[in-house]
Amino acid sequence: MNRVKGKTCIVTGAALGIGRACAERLAEEGGAVALFDLHDAEGEALAAALRAKGARARYWHVDVSNEARVKAAIDEAAAEFGGVHVLVNNAGISGSTKLTHEITEQEWDQVQAVNVKGVLFCAKHAIPHMKAAGGGSIINLSSIYGLVGAPDVPAYHASKGAVRLMSKTDALCYAADRIRVNSVHPGYIWTPMVEHHLQASGATDIAAARKAVGELHPLGHMGEVDDIAWGVVYLASDESKFVTGAELAIDGGYTA
Ligand code: NAI
Repeated sequence: MNRVKGKTCIVTGAALGIGRACAERLAEEGGAVALFDLHDAEGEALAAALRAKGARARYWHVDVSNEARVKAAIDEAAAEFGGVHVLVNNAGISGSTKLTHEITEQEWDQVQAVNVKGVLFCAKHAIPHMKAAGGGSIINLSSIYGLVGAPDVPAYHASKGAVRLMSKTDALCYAADRIRVNSVHPGYIWTPMVEHHLQASGATDIAAARKAVGELHPLGHMGEVDDIAWGVVYLASDESKFVTGAELAIDGGYTA
């Protein structure tokens, strides 16, 4: 309890999957949570459920690839909750499964707009608030595929590699401002994104595909959303006050 008490925590992509778990755990740990997403019904319901448990929480409809909307929502969240201290850049899409010789410019750009520019815009407009607060923590969701390659979805893998080095660069640029920036690299976590990806990859027996993908990890199974959320809580809290520019792989040993 209270590991992030007094901190305003913005979580993007907070309505579903990993982001939802991050928002829930940060709220339980005393954070005021600003939920950004496109799924309004789920986002509003989550904010209401968190408030019912005594947390401070509000949902904003934000497309992270829209800079003006990102800035407005971050400024509103700062005004409502009293500054910004934690940013969890979680919103992401898997996008086109086409290989390099097939993918169109538009399909490539769609993935970079959310996964790369979304991270940029949120950091860009949260950093002034963090400076004003005397510091902060930015946690960027990359992937095992920001650390190692795989023979599919090149647009997604490029985006996650970019997020890894954006994190390290910003860690160095803003260390003097006491803003820590770290990346988290999940292995396969069972969420709507992974289910859609397996379907898009042509899997017909989803349960069998889920088991097979799980077995790619040395621990023998996929992870759960809370496996990532607890890592995010650690990086958001002062327990990690000497950690910046780090890559936290939470991947069942996939990249070991
Ligand atoms: P998900 O698809 O289950 O949930 C993503 C959430 O982001 C959804 O609520 C969606 O509405 C929201 N979102 C998508 N585009 C948005 C936009 N433009 N603006 C605002 N919100 C937007 O995804 P999941 O699995 O929870 O993934 C979360 C993050 O973790 C992503 O960045 C993903 O790349 C990363 N990741 C996930 C892994 C997995 O196995 N699930 C593995 C490695 C990384």
